[in-house]
Amino acid sequence: QATGVLHGRSVVITAGPTREAIDPVRYLSNYSSGKMGFALAAAAVKAGASVTLVAGPCQLATPAHVTRVDVVSALDMQQAVSEHIAHCDIFIGCAAVADFRPVQVAQQKMKKQQDHDHMAIELVKNPDILAWVATQSPTPFTVGFAAETNEVAKYARDKLERKGIQLIVANDVSDATIGFNSDNNAVTVYWPEGEKAFATSTKESLAENLVTLIAEHYKNFKKQ
Ligand code: PMT
Repeated sequence: QATGVLHGRSVVITAGPTREAIDPVRYLSNYSSGKMGFALAAAAVKAGASVTLVAGPCQLATPAHVTRVDVVSALDMQQAVSEHIAHCDIFIGCAAVADFRPVQVAQQKMKKQQDHDHMAIELVKNPDILAWVATQSPTPFTVGFAAETNEVAKYARDKLERKGIQLIVANDVSDATIGFNSDNNAVTVYWPEGEKAFATSTKESLAENLVTLIAEHYKNFKKQ
């Protein structure tokens, strides 16, 4: 149903994985499909928002009425987010951004060294896009995701505080039936004074419930 709870609001969402190049034919990445972030984009449109979806490499159709910006690496994603954040009311970081990238990207395909059974690739930390958004002025209402395999509540609350954001949506990605690449998800949302659990459902249905919760919290948010 068209709730209109985000009528007139501008929402930026990141989705999918990032790819961090090693050489012209290889990269580091993860199993994010983009399904959760794309479902959030569709739900935010349904709630009346104008939505920009900054998407890492995903094989998904763009939801109707969503402005999609395709990116590859974490640095590309940060650049695209910085170009669209100025007039944004709500930012949702659903992308599985690679925490590290290779220090050097080989210009030519790397060759197997016949006399070496091991090789090492030196990595450097990527910028934290979510934490960076939360330091912008004016700050949008900022929602993060936390993909955890253990001590979900503890690590999610830690990220909420450390990144200085308003809500964090935690999923247990040790369970293959939810989280990365599955059609379903189950999450608990944390904020400084509370939490709310959502049982397993399709990512589309969960996204609608998350958008409703985000809109409720956004009502009491004062931009700084
Ligand atoms: O795409 P699907 O297959 O549908 O799977 C959905 C999902 C499991 C990817 C999604 O629900 C999810 O949990 N997304 C966050 C994945 C993640 O990278 O979590 P994290 O705990 O490492 O990161 C915490 C938060 O910081 C996230 O909001 C992330 O977008 C953000 N981040 C992390 C690192 C970084 N360099 N920049 C960031 O913005």
